[in-house]
Amino acid sequence: MKLATEAHNLDAWEETLEPRYGSTPFVTTDPEKRPEQFRDYRAEARPSVKEFYRLNHRHQTLDFVLEKKRQYVPLEKMRMGVWEAMEYLNQLVDDSDPDTDLSQIEHLLQTAEAIRKDDRPRWFVLTGLLHDLGKILCLWGEPQWAVVGDTFPVGCAFSEKVVFAEFFADNPDRLDPRCQSTTGIYEAGCGLAAVHLSWGHDEYLYHVMRPYLPTEGLAMIRYHSCYPIHREHAYGELLSAADHELLRWVVDFNQYDLYSKSRERPDVTELKPYYLDLISEYFPAEIAW
Ligand SMILES: [Fe+2]
Ligand SMILES: [Fe+2]
Repeated sequence: MKLATEAHNLDAWEETLEPRYGSTPFVTTDPEKRPEQFRDYRAEARPSVKEFYRLNHRHQTLDFVLEKKRQYVPLEKMRMGVWEAMEYLNQLVDDSDPDTDLSQIEHLLQTAEAIRKDDRPRWFVLTGLLHDLGKILCLWGEPQWAVVGDTFPVGCAFSEKVVFAEFFADNPDRLDPRCQSTTGIYEAGCGLAAVHLSWGHDEYLYHVMRPYLPTEGLAMIRYHSCYPIHREHAYGELLSAADHELLRWVVDFNQYDLYSKSRERPDVTELKPYYLDLISEYFPAEIAW
């Protein structure tokens, strides 16, 4: 089933995140394997994950991003409510391991619940609930490399700190005169709002949510996969003072996205009324996608 395969590969990328950025203790019964070996995402990465990054780094050019923005940012694909979008996204079902893998809706609820348990603001809980809805791009035929994966600025030189940076060797922007310096087509300190990031579920959802969420929530959505910036501190030349403040929120959010995955399954039916109420505080019945 195609949709199941799509979801499986989406999750394959996400599984590389915790070994790279997690601080969860690793338990091994094999005395020959030191913990660091378990944390070596390069050694661990499945061939499908490497192939994913090979395609992503080759095809995410400035022109590609601009084309996707022309296609999607007018938000003319459909109109639907937020909970409806969660159910729509949930068509991406990973049936390869039904006992341990969470559905998309379960991941969203788990993230939101982890934030709620920490007594964070209501918009923060809501952002957790929404943060991956941009993955509906998959349902509209976008390939995985244009939906998930670490994001990074385009229109300037690629940083060596991006995961599998060697695959940028095949990206045509490597030869584009506009993209040779660390600032490229941008002004130093221009701020990330002025910077084009590689296209994916984060960027798309940011545009959907702009009218509804506070700036901090929008930053969590737009930058949550931008590990080169929020974890590796690359592309500092492009950041404004305001970005540094916003990135603190992104890092704050990231722990809930990464570490809620191993917790118990949320009860969707039981939680639905609470979240429908929260959604109605911030959103009309339908929004543009
Ligand atoms: Fe995500
Ligand atoms: Fe997520």
